[in-house]
Formats: sequence, C-alpha cells, structure tokens
Amino acid sequence: MRLADWLRPRLLDRLMAQLDDLRPEIAGRAEGEVLELGFGTGRNLPHLPPRVKRLAAIDPKPGDGLPALEDRVACAPFPVERHALRADGELPFDAGRFDTVLTTFTLCSIPDPLRALREVRRVLAPGGRLLFLEHGRAPDPRTARWQDRLNPLWLRLTGECNMNRPIDRLVEAGGFRLEELTRFRHRGPAVLAHMYRGVAHSA
Ligand SMILES: C[S@@+](CC[C@H](N)C(=O)[O-])C[C@H]1O[C@@H](n2cnc3c(N)ncnc32)[C@H](O)[C@@H]1O
Repeated sequence: MRLADWLRPRLLDRLMAQLDDLRPEIAGRAEGEVLELGFGTGRNLPHLPPRVKRLAAIDPKPGDGLPALEDRVACAPFPVERHALRADGELPFDAGRFDTVLTTFTLCSIPDPLRALREVRRVLAPGGRLLFLEHGRAPDPRTARWQDRLNPLWLRLTGECNMNRPIDRLVEAGGFRLEELTRFRHRGPAVLAHMYRGVAHSA
C-alpha cells in the first residue's frame, strides 16, 4: 500500500471529527433504505437511528481497513453495504430503491454534482428525502469573493474540495424542492465555515 493511501483516510477521519457536533441533527432523520454519498470514514454511522433498515454507502476512495471505520461498521445495528463508486456516475441501484439519501460535506467534492443529484432523484422512492449538511458559498459578498479567489488553490491543495458552491441553488438545480433549509456559520475560517443543512424532495 502506498503511504498516501494509508495516510488519506487517517487524515480525513481526524479532520472530519471537527464537524461531528453537526451530524446528529441531520443523520438522525434518516429512515428505511438509506444511500449515503461520499461515505468517507463512516462518521455518520453512529448517528443513524435504528429506523434505518439498511445502508448502502458509496465513495470512490473508500477508507476500508481503517480500524475506526471498521469498528463503526461492526457496531451498526443494520447491514452496511459498501461500494467503491462515484455519485456522479451511473449507480447500480434500481429506480426508487431508497427512502433517504444522505450527503454530508460531499457535494463540495463531487466533480459533477448536478449529474449526481439527477441519479439521486432516480434512486429515491416517491416521497423519499434528500438530507444534506454541506459547507459552501457564504451569504456575505466579501467572503464569497474571497471564496472565488481562493477556490482554485484550495481545489488543487485538497484534490477535490470546492469552497464556493451555492449548495441550496445546486440542490434546486438538480430537480429538488427544498422543504427545510438552515444556513449558519460554524467555527473555523470564514471561507470554510458557512453551512447549509436541509431536507429536499424531488420537485
Ligand atoms: C470531505 S469528505 C466527507 C466524508 C464524509 N461524508 C463525512 O461527512 O465525514 C468528502 C468525501 O467525498 C468523497 N468523494 C469525492 N468525489 C466523489 C464522488 N464523485 N462521488 C462520491 N463521493 C465522492 C471523497 O472520497 C470523500 O470521502
């Protein structure tokens, strides 16, 4: 195994722990058959309620083998299927299979988020919900301008993350109707701290 492949999930797990206080509010609303986009190191797993019947988790760079992730999977009170897949490709799931699709801090990283959202609409059951918690474009123009300036460098440094995506507009452009949306400032640098938390249905 290359050092970078060993290091990546460990670093990601450490970094994403900083956002754990925000997870229960959104992950706790999942139910039934659930699809999670950008599963990462499985940090949402402990917050998914027993109403979840089964989780299908996709990520093009799964952190399989990371002890903390394997422990989270082993402790889940429902089956967890893991797939090394990107969300903006063709998903091998039947139309209408899922009651909930969950995405946390992942719409920033998907190269073609509109394509991913179209696939999400296809695999969601009628009445199913998209639950999202994402960082993105700030409401104040000054910070948003800094986000636009810094994004090319940030994208190159992280290899995947965009700091300036307007998540609410993206979700709507992907064919969803927002049922709930909360925008708030979390801790950390202003360009990374603007959060979008919401629930959406197919429009
Ligand atoms: C910042 S991490 C967030 C991980 C996790 N969702 C969390 O909340 O801790 C972004 C994740 O998106 C994944 N990702 C990148 N491109 C993707 C794509 N095209 N489809 C799905 N996931 C992708 C990355 O591999 C990474 O695990």
